[in-house]
Amino acid sequence: MQKAKTVVMSGIRSTGFLHLGNYFGAIRNYVRMQEEYDCFFMVADLHSLTTHPETKELRQNVTRVIAENVACGLDPKKVALYCQSHVPETAELYLLLNMLAYKGELEKTVTFKEKVRQHPDNVNAGLLTYPVLQAADILLHRAKLVPVGKDQEQHLEMSRNFANRFNHRYGEIFPEPYAFNFGEELIKVPSLDGKGKMSKSENQMATLYLSDSDDDIRKKIMKAQTDSGPTEPGTPKPDYIQNLFLLLRLVSADEVLKKFEKDYDHCNIRYGDLKKQLAEDMVRFIAPIREKAAAIQNDSVYLQQIMEEGTAKARKSAGETMRLVKDAMGLAY
Ligand code: TRP
Repeated sequence: MQKAKTVVMSGIRSTGFLHLGNYFGAIRNYVRMQEEYDCFFMVADLHSLTTHPETKELRQNVTRVIAENVACGLDPKKVALYCQSHVPETAELYLLLNMLAYKGELEKTVTFKEKVRQHPDNVNAGLLTYPVLQAADILLHRAKLVPVGKDQEQHLEMSRNFANRFNHRYGEIFPEPYAFNFGEELIKVPSLDGKGKMSKSENQMATLYLSDSDDDIRKKIMKAQTDSGPTEPGTPKPDYIQNLFLLLRLVSADEVLKKFEKDYDHCNIRYGDLKKQLAEDMVRFIAPIREKAAAIQNDSVYLQQIMEEGTAKARKSAGETMRLVKDAMGLAY
């Protein structure tokens, strides 16, 4: 059965605070996709239990992720924005897909091996079958496009394998889901210390969070590494300087960027001035998102309404898929 519009589905981790890298790498793409596609965006609270059995902060984390995504421009009227645990069909499909997933392939998954190394005392079956739950999230809506980063490629490949195995055994129900990004435009936001990308858990001083106060933002940017500047025209920019320019490009006006590029070329750049300007432009960018997110998070009636509408849309789509699945499997008695 074909759906009218191409279906897009993605899951957002509920652990950690959203940062500038999430904004430019993921959320901005969600916001663009909501205009053209049938979109399902889900907070992966069940997945978080595989590594975070403590649930005291779960509600707070889930609502913060929802509030931050809406503050960034995701429109809960246009997309299904929902919480994984509110859609019980997810668990049902997960169970059925588990019979098509082999222990060997699950044990070979890179993310599984990494987590075993990080939490050797909690290697639970949920962790092993994490990719099966993710496949259930995606296949539940028969999604074709999954906007995710490079680190999710293997999980997507496994989702395709489970879909194909199901289709071969029981009948063509699931399209193959593929990772989707805006190609060249996919922006990796560098961390402020010149080492790698901004990250939810690592080097907090080098990562700008959407919840950072104006002073945090200024402090982090003013601490970023610089040097005494180039002395000869044509000197290539070291990584940590290149990164500051990249951030300017994301949040500052063109003239500002051009001015500092010119100063660099003429070997009279003042990095103190560059960082002050970048800090103010960054504050102007992040502050409205932070304030909007805080307002939404304090509005429990609105939050509840977003979650209920999201659940209803997701369950409608999930119910249709589960009917097809059960018919195909001969479980409809
Ligand atoms: N595993 C994903 C991550 O770590 C989160 C996720 C859960 C997801 N379910 C999904 C992503 C479904 C895409 C589709 O970021």
